[in-house]
Amino acid sequence: MKVLIDQEQISSRVISLGRELANEYQHRPLTIIGILAGSVVLLADLIRAIDVPHQVGLIQASSYRGKTTTAGALHVNLDFMPDIKGRHVLLVDDIFDTGKTMQTVLAQIRELQPLSLKSAVLLWKEEASEVELTPDFHCFKIPNHFVVGYGLDFNNEYRHLPFIASLEGTDLV
Ligand code: IMP
Ligand code: MG
Repeated sequence: MKVLIDQEQISSRVISLGRELANEYQHRPLTIIGILAGSVVLLADLIRAIDVPHQVGLIQASSYRGKTTTAGALHVNLDFMPDIKGRHVLLVDDIFDTGKTMQTVLAQIRELQPLSLKSAVLLWKEEASEVELTPDFHCFKIPNHFVVGYGLDFNNEYRHLPFIASLEGTDLV
């Protein structure tokens, strides 16, 4: 495993994004929605870095993907979606890879007619994008490698690592 982004780099970037978002949403009713399970580490740190009042909610999106890359049909579960009537929504995910998850979830939330809708991700694999859309806010752009840590998993392992690392051959078995 090779560390790409260490704990300190993540922490200072999340704090600066928090400030940016606090400016953006000052005096506007904000709800931050995290996508389970990859966003939970970022969500926990980011909401504490956004020094304006806001509500927090969670939804689930699972893509029944294979071991590392191939994504199947995306299943979005809005059962725990809070009421966003009259509110601005910021959707938070761990990574913008092909962008299909973000695109699908944004479309479903848009139907609920929030006052505005934007997206924020920890990582953006710009070269991997398969959609027109780009994330409104991101912490780091990374090359098209499979990474884990800080919420990101491989077969549900490694989410707890406090840094972002790329997996090497022997980690993938
Ligand atoms: P997308 O729909 O292709 O943008 O994929 C988004 C989802 O795929 C993320 O929420 C992650 O769960 C997963 N994903 C994509 N790339 C990686 C990676 O490098 N490591 C771990 N999970 C990834
Ligand atoms: Mg995920």
